[in-house]
Amino acid sequence: LLAGYRQLLAAGTRLQWDAAAIDLSHDCAALQRLPAERRGRVTELLAGFWVAEHQVADQLRPFIAATDGDARRCFELQAGDERRHARFFDRVVRTVLGVDPPTAARELAGAAIIALFDHELPVMAAGLQEGTTGLGEAVALYHLVLEAIVLAAGEEALLREAASLPGVADGAARVQADERWHVGLGVQALLDSGFQTGPALDRLAARAAGAWGEQVAGHEATAHALATHRRRVALLRRHSGVTL
Ligand SMILES: [Fe+2]
Ligand SMILES: [Fe+2]
Repeated sequence: LLAGYRQLLAAGTRLQWDAAAIDLSHDCAALQRLPAERRGRVTELLAGFWVAEHQVADQLRPFIAATDGDARRCFELQAGDERRHARFFDRVVRTVLGVDPPTAARELAGAAIIALFDHELPVMAAGLQEGTTGLGEAVALYHLVLEAIVLAAGEEALLREAASLPGVADGAARVQADERWHVGLGVQALLDSGFQTGPALDRLAARAAGAWGEQVAGHEATAHALATHRRRVALLRRHSGVTL
């Protein structure tokens, strides 16, 4: 759980992949073969990931500006990962869902995903940019809640529901591997930040776990993400005196 910036850089560098090289040629037909209800869930997940990955890619700049040295190099490497994830879901929405991403994805994504990634994340990032929000508070939302709970639960759901879509499953597994070191980066940055907050983070975590809707929220993978979150927060308290 506590890797250090050098190890995180090495892990992130080792995991690099090409979003354009993933073969999506069988996925559109595979999606059409799914029962309607499941096809609907996969569609909403893919559209939600399009919105989420574009926003996390767009909102990372103030995190880079707020750090230096190896920490900054980690956030820069992460920014490249997020742009790659956004490009991957561009391809997926266009070729698998068969719609134009910027307009259609926001119509197909769930309201709670839109609220978290299109509204709350940009507000937090703007605060960080302007100096009214600390790095720790911003990392708690971005890395500990959006990545470690919402995206982690969504990736598990995608790997389950879209297991018969070979390209989507391949990309989702690679995105999931990248997100793990991003969360490790968040934990390290929080340790260094002296961040203090109260039960607001618990309430936010609980709300985030429901962001993909009941089907995902009720799954054991989401309960596991929340349990891991609680362990992470307890570990941060022990190691830093940071109040989370
Ligand atoms: Fe990502
Ligand atoms: Fe990420």
